[in-house]
Amino acid sequence: MPVIVDPDSPTLTRLLTAAPPGAHGVDSTERLRARLAQQRDEYAVVLGPHVALDEAFALCEDLRTARPTLSVVLVRDDLDAAVLTRAIKAGARDVVASDDAEAVVAAIARARDLHVALRGHPALGATEQGRVVTVFSPKGGVGKTTMAVNLALAMADRGARRVCLVDLDLAFGDVAITLQLFPTHSIEHAIGSESTLDPEQLDALLTRHEDSLMVLAAPAHPDVRERVPAALVTRVLSTLRQSFDVVVVDTSPSFDEQTLTALDETDECVIVATLDVPTLKNVKVAIETLDLLDIARDHRHLLLNRADDAVGIGPDKVEAILGMRIAAQVSTSIEIAAATNTGSPIVRGNPDHPSSASIRGLAELLAGGALADATHPGPAAPPAARGDASLAAAQSVPGRSPRRFRIRR
Ligand SMILES: Nc1ncnc2c1ncn2[C@@H]1O[C@H](COP(=O)(O)OP(=O)(O)OP(=O)(O)O)[C@@H](O)[C@H]1O
Ligand SMILES: [Mg+2]
Repeated sequence: MPVIVDPDSPTLTRLLTAAPPGAHGVDSTERLRARLAQQRDEYAVVLGPHVALDEAFALCEDLRTARPTLSVVLVRDDLDAAVLTRAIKAGARDVVASDDAEAVVAAIARARDLHVALRGHPALGATEQGRVVTVFSPKGGVGKTTMAVNLALAMADRGARRVCLVDLDLAFGDVAITLQLFPTHSIEHAIGSESTLDPEQLDALLTRHEDSLMVLAAPAHPDVRERVPAALVTRVLSTLRQSFDVVVVDTSPSFDEQTLTALDETDECVIVATLDVPTLKNVKVAIETLDLLDIARDHRHLLLNRADDAVGIGPDKVEAILGMRIAAQVSTSIEIAAATNTGSPIVRGNPDHPSSASIRGLAELLAGGALADATHPGPAAPPAARGDASLAAAQSVPGRSPRRFRIRR
């Protein structure tokens, strides 16, 4: 994503309007440096006309070697030969006039193209292992697939990151149909290759989405699930890590063997909840289970879907019940369902929709690998004191022995 820097608020707003959806604005180069330290895959920095020239050139010098796949675009009110010469020497990739919005857009597009072209270059540190992001909920129908697909598209950012979406809902997976893909291969074709599968073989099983997102589809028939061993899931995910920046995993609504294996491999876990008591009860149990299994501790992100449903429980109660902060909220919206039905999920079909912004925000957090701000600081709300017996049930965790689920890598 591009980051726009300008200490002057109206100018920052104007430049952000010209930038693609999801661009981030900061008011100083200090804040920019802090952000870049967290986000390893930004592709453009646009320095507005109110950033002091010396500061701008110092930043260009630093980024030229530290982040060669990141382009600095310098925006100036006056373009004179002296500024251009210094900009070239410092390593700025583009210098554009501040009243030329089209030139800013074109410079950001060039920065993205360059980033995509250079990203796979081993000399530029492209050998890093990708991150596995698993979208999970113990409850069916809460929006796991919708969120997994949208998060994957947001992280792919039209090619800025290499993303593979794995449909691990092996019996009833619907990632392919959601993206209107017609896969000829699926994970079924890798059965038997648990100890031999390599990136090239796996690549042949992937289906390309138009946004250069790759998909590993679920088998066409539900009974195949029984034949997919946990060892294959581990091998698939570790192999995909070698070729992709991010591997997003959509899961089935249960702690089945394959889902637990994926969770065991995961770097970031997105837990999807909605505002109904049975879901919250099951999510609470699932979180306790993840605790006992020591899975993705400090890397769990609560996504509250249908967050505006007026059902007597608000987001604050959800945080109290689950003991986690909500990382992102998505409202119930006919546009989300309609976008899915037309094969153009909301972040792609309607990037300016508030839900798209919310999903992109979470996607950036996940791709950057930031620690989850998961633990709720306040005491859990005492539901019984509010005479709400069903919420009290949601807070209690039945005694079970999740160790039996432990899958070894
Ligand atoms: N925020 C939302 N607003 C409106 N509709 C939504 C929203 N989130 C999801 N939906 C719709 O709800 C339905 C279920 O969503 P989805 O298939 O993503 O859930 P799931 O958790 O993957 O279900 P399953 O457990 O069956 O795999 C879909 O029709 C989807 O379009
Ligand atoms: Mg699903």
